[in-house]
Amino acid sequence: MKLDKTFSIGVFDSGVGGLSVLKELAALLPYENFIYFGDRKNVPYGTKPASEVKKLSDKIVEFLLAKKVKIVVVACNTATAFAIKHLREKYNFIDFVGMEPAIKPAALSTKTGKIGVLATALTLRGNHFKTTKEKYASGVEVFAQEGNGLVEIVEGNKIGTKESLELLRQYLLPMKLKGIDKLVLGCTHYPFLTDDIKAVLDTDGIEIINPAGAVARRTFELLKRNNLLNNGNNRGQVKIFSNIDDFSIFKNLCKLTGSKLTYSFEYVEI
Ligand code: DGL
Repeated sequence: MKLDKTFSIGVFDSGVGGLSVLKELAALLPYENFIYFGDRKNVPYGTKPASEVKKLSDKIVEFLLAKKVKIVVVACNTATAFAIKHLREKYNFIDFVGMEPAIKPAALSTKTGKIGVLATALTLRGNHFKTTKEKYASGVEVFAQEGNGLVEIVEGNKIGTKESLELLRQYLLPMKLKGIDKLVLGCTHYPFLTDDIKAVLDTDGIEIINPAGAVARRTFELLKRNNLLNNGNNRGQVKIFSNIDDFSIFKNLCKLTGSKLTYSFEYVEI
């Protein structure tokens, strides 16, 4: 398949979480068009068998390719961990950019020698997490915590509620007591909980690390290297697709992305 600069950038996640990555992409690449797919019918991925996450991701990539995309950003840590290898092998004519658990920058900059990672159960069970930890965090204590229920908080429009603060307190206060000074957000839904996390941690001295900026820079580099950057000077458009016909959460969170791009929303049955 021949890729063209006028094609869009494809982005997908299990739901609305990938909008936290889209925010960084749109800031860096404002003249690009984006096709976003949020698999809300199947969210959360983090508690599913790995084989299912792989199958769902494959189906979404087929959908994005049919919409003419020139690169695919897997804006989901869980799908990156369990599907990206397969996707790169099967669709070897297009680049895939995945989420890196930001253990490296956290491990390089920690002063206490202790970092926390909050991610889905599946992400933490994966090889990707294990090898990144071994490679970049030897000599650093890594406190990994499953964020069970947090994706549902974001998807269910419950940011800032008692339920959200209680879960975060349960997950994060033990790490704080251990003396972490970096907290890695290992799921793309979690940046939307930043205010709740700050309220719970009272984050003096704890830096929250979100890898989305690095993912956007990598996407830019790959498009540039392959001569696929869009040369136009019209602000890009974002088409959001989902398989649940209720876009209220998308609309709320799109406002939070603060981007000047135009958004449209469309239901698709996949
Ligand atoms: N945003 C996905 C991630 O980064 C959430 C996974 C889920 O749906 O559980 O892992």
